[in-house]
Amino acid sequence: MCGIVGYTGSSQAAPILMDGLAKLEYRGYDSAGVAVTKPEGGNIVVKTKGRLSVLSDMIDGGCALQGTCGIGHTRWATHGEPSTVNAHPHHNDDYSIVAVHNGIIENFAELKVKLTDKGYSFYSQTDTEIATKTIDYYYRKWGDPIKAMVSFILRVRGSYAIAVMFADLPEQIFIARKDSPLVVGINGGETYLASDVPAILKYCRDIYYMDNMEIARLEKGKATFFNVDSKIIEKKTKRIEWDVESAEKGGYEHFMMKEIHEQPSVIENTLSCLLKDNSIDLSEGKVTDEFLQSVERIQIAACGSAYHVGVAAKYVIEDLARVPVNVDVASEFRYRNPVFGKHDLLIVISQSGETADTLAALRGAKENGVKTLAIVNVLGSAIAREADMVLYTKAGPEISVATTKAYSAQLIVCYAIAVRLAKVRGTIDDKRYTKLIKSLQSIPAQVKKMLADDTSIKWLATKIAGKSDVFFIGRGIDYATCLEGSLKLKEISYIHSEAYASGELKHGTISLIENEVPVISVITQPRLAEKSKSNVVEVKSRGAYVMSVTLSGNYDIGNSVDFCIYIPKTEPCFTASVSVIPLQLLSYYVSVTKGLDVDMPRNLAKCVSVE
Ligand code: BG6
Repeated sequence: MCGIVGYTGSSQAAPILMDGLAKLEYRGYDSAGVAVTKPEGGNIVVKTKGRLSVLSDMIDGGCALQGTCGIGHTRWATHGEPSTVNAHPHHNDDYSIVAVHNGIIENFAELKVKLTDKGYSFYSQTDTEIATKTIDYYYRKWGDPIKAMVSFILRVRGSYAIAVMFADLPEQIFIARKDSPLVVGINGGETYLASDVPAILKYCRDIYYMDNMEIARLEKGKATFFNVDSKIIEKKTKRIEWDVESAEKGGYEHFMMKEIHEQPSVIENTLSCLLKDNSIDLSEGKVTDEFLQSVERIQIAACGSAYHVGVAAKYVIEDLARVPVNVDVASEFRYRNPVFGKHDLLIVISQSGETADTLAALRGAKENGVKTLAIVNVLGSAIAREADMVLYTKAGPEISVATTKAYSAQLIVCYAIAVRLAKVRGTIDDKRYTKLIKSLQSIPAQVKKMLADDTSIKWLATKIAGKSDVFFIGRGIDYATCLEGSLKLKEISYIHSEAYASGELKHGTISLIENEVPVISVITQPRLAEKSKSNVVEVKSRGAYVMSVTLSGNYDIGNSVDFCIYIPKTEPCFTASVSVIPLQLLSYYVSVTKGLDVDMPRNLAKCVSVE
């Protein structure tokens, strides 16, 4: 996600801004920029696509910009592809207002219409420019920066950490926050702001954490906080004891655990961009209802965990929309001379948007005249650029090689496609459509509940860590979850494991089950519970140590296994999003127990952009 820094004090601002942005590089970005209030008045903005080093060269490391108050930004593109014009800071026409923003303004289109009607024009494709001009509009209306910020907060929907400078209020920075983090530090006569602690930790350890719907006026060595009623509020500082490295991980020991815990907000962000007035709206990806009605078959090609999303999507799409779905690993799909139908749709799923096999699968389908839809996390990536339609996951940059939050976001996009497809094809009625959407909206809370207490998983991990083989068994969507759980364990703990459709185990592999062999059974599909339970009995009778992930209330299953994790009851189609959480945590703790490099496992790359 984007990184924000700001400073007002007695030193030159630009070098401090550049130093702070460098501490936020780990968050991933595609462009960067700074704005400084000039000593003679007025704001100057310097920004560019590419790495911080490009920006640094443009301003001689900051020395070329004079001024003691400024804001800076590293951009992870969500609206508008990576480019200099889309980079932050954004500004109004005369640069009297400049702003940087981290988050997603969901009603940016509606605001743009309103501002256009009032004579505003726009130079970029970003929601942030619209946010900046919204503040400009209210500042012109009220003539008061706090009232302008309050009006902004009340007017926009979405998430934001925003920092604004008004040219006629030099040496002051105004900030507001909702859902995207924003911190403030004061040290003597110097005031610092950032979207994350690492950027200012070298200057101060007593940090103010902005809360939702709060505003602050930052002056040299002073911060004044306001609530949404424009009333001044008192805030206490928190003492940060972390070092910079652990601060980059938000206080978690590894990026993977930080990203596991980001999943509720990532799911919420991804879903919020696919819903409009409580209905699924895929128009941002140019996926029209008319097109969906024309689809007679779906082919899915992806790699690794993204492939496992495709397997889960097959079950959900076929169950809800009654459209046949083929899923294949992209490296097989691209070479097996696939048969394409006239009304096929190829869906490719990729976090990086650069995976060579997946890109090749996309190109092969396009050469055969097949429409293509990409589910991608990185704007401007090769797959995003070449697909006919693109739906973005809003996972932000994923640092850990083993994917978690991007996987969860990909699932959500697939669910949205399945539900919309079912709606337009009439295979579900309005009542079920509404119920499914409510179930989608309840997933973040259910995931959060699974993250609340992982004590028992930690204990189980110590038991699994000494094993040489682990089996994951499940039926239907649970089989897809087993594929992902097995890969997670292999990737980061180096323990051999296999995922098996429960019903297939008896056709050979059950010969490997013997005393104390760990078997992890995922049983969340009510229709298949009895069958799955009998598979548990089969392996138990051969001495297996069985852990089950099942729905709360399934005590008959819980009482027949050695270890049980209950997940909240949810729509059966969507349980993969919840049942995967204990498996992610289990793999993480096994890897930590074995003292391995969780975030950078041996032999693996975050993206395999070559064959
Ligand atoms: C692997 C990653 O290299 O590629 C996996 O380790 C990922 O986590 C797979 O699922 C596919 O990558 P992408 O970027 O196409 O989703």
